[in-house]
Amino acid sequence: MYSLMTEPLAEHSGKGHQPVMLDEVVKLVAELNPAKVLDCCFGGGGHTRAILKATEAHVTAIDRDPAAKVRAEALSQQYGERFAFIEGNYSELSQFTAESFDVIFYDLGVSSFQLDEAERGFSFRKDAALDMRMNPGDSMSAAEFLELAPNDELVCAIKEYGEERNWKRIVETLEAARGTGKLSRTVPLAQLIQESFSPKERRLAKGRHLATKSFQGIRMAVNEELMHLRKSLPSAFEILAIGGRMIVISFHSLEDRIVKRQFRAWAGQPLDANDSTPQQDRPKYGDLLFRKPQRPTEQEVAVNPRSRSALLRVFDKTHTREEEVT
Ligand SMILES: C[S@@+](CC[C@H](N)C(=O)[O-])C[C@H]1O[C@@H](n2cnc3c(N)ncnc32)[C@H](O)[C@@H]1O
Repeated sequence: MYSLMTEPLAEHSGKGHQPVMLDEVVKLVAELNPAKVLDCCFGGGGHTRAILKATEAHVTAIDRDPAAKVRAEALSQQYGERFAFIEGNYSELSQFTAESFDVIFYDLGVSSFQLDEAERGFSFRKDAALDMRMNPGDSMSAAEFLELAPNDELVCAIKEYGEERNWKRIVETLEAARGTGKLSRTVPLAQLIQESFSPKERRLAKGRHLATKSFQGIRMAVNEELMHLRKSLPSAFEILAIGGRMIVISFHSLEDRIVKRQFRAWAGQPLDANDSTPQQDRPKYGDLLFRKPQRPTEQEVAVNPRSRSALLRVFDKTHTREEEVT
């Protein structure tokens, strides 16, 4: 039996990260009665902890952020050999483990721990060096990215990843600010971006900071989030047991598109309306549990606004590549 949301949510109701769609995830995991679970996005360990509590599974958790390792200590002490933490990037899964897992879970994006810690430079709420690296050991901080990135990468960050309609003026402003020092700290950058909007647009913003979307886009570019996801899913498929389940929560339409297309490809379904590949050329390795992505309940969104853009998809694996059925 799996435990319901009340207890784990209460554990996260204060400071820290509130796990998204926790009840749904625990149910989807527990109904498989798994022996081994892989959580690719440990964060604050909210989902991992609930899975350890609700099942008898051994859980391995990964995070690229070294700070997550410290948070994982408490679970190691409590659960001993049932829990293992690996510091690393989920795009390199094949280097960490050759084990197979009954459930592989991703909860994409950043954690509240990362956003709330001013020195990490993810947020414009407090002034700090503009860093934004999930792993501070990675090569390029956000400040360096803004100073050095070619125009097409800046456009991609602000327009595609940030989904910012005012991308043209923002990119021009950022390029004009190179070498002035204004791209090196969070608050001056947010002011610069805000100034790229007209007074009317600023009046219409209704309390939402006009730098929010650009900050999201810059973060996704600096951490190469989509590239790592694209690379990780096929490796995860290889170590997912037959009869196993992959669960992904994404928060951005481009992330969800990658997950949707990959899951549809494995399920032998057309990738989109324009995909005219004949059915006999579509190998099928499993099924989509839901045709449409699952969304958080209204109650959850009311308690945890960060959950509002969550999209949950599930793929159930029935075959390996060698024994594909068409
Ligand atoms: C939304 S948080 C996960 C929160 C977690 N489920 C919880 O309940 O506490 C996402 C986490 O995934 C990590 N992450 C993002 N991209 C990663 C990658 N490519 N490899 C490993 N970890 C990654 C981030 O550092 C962050 O801690």
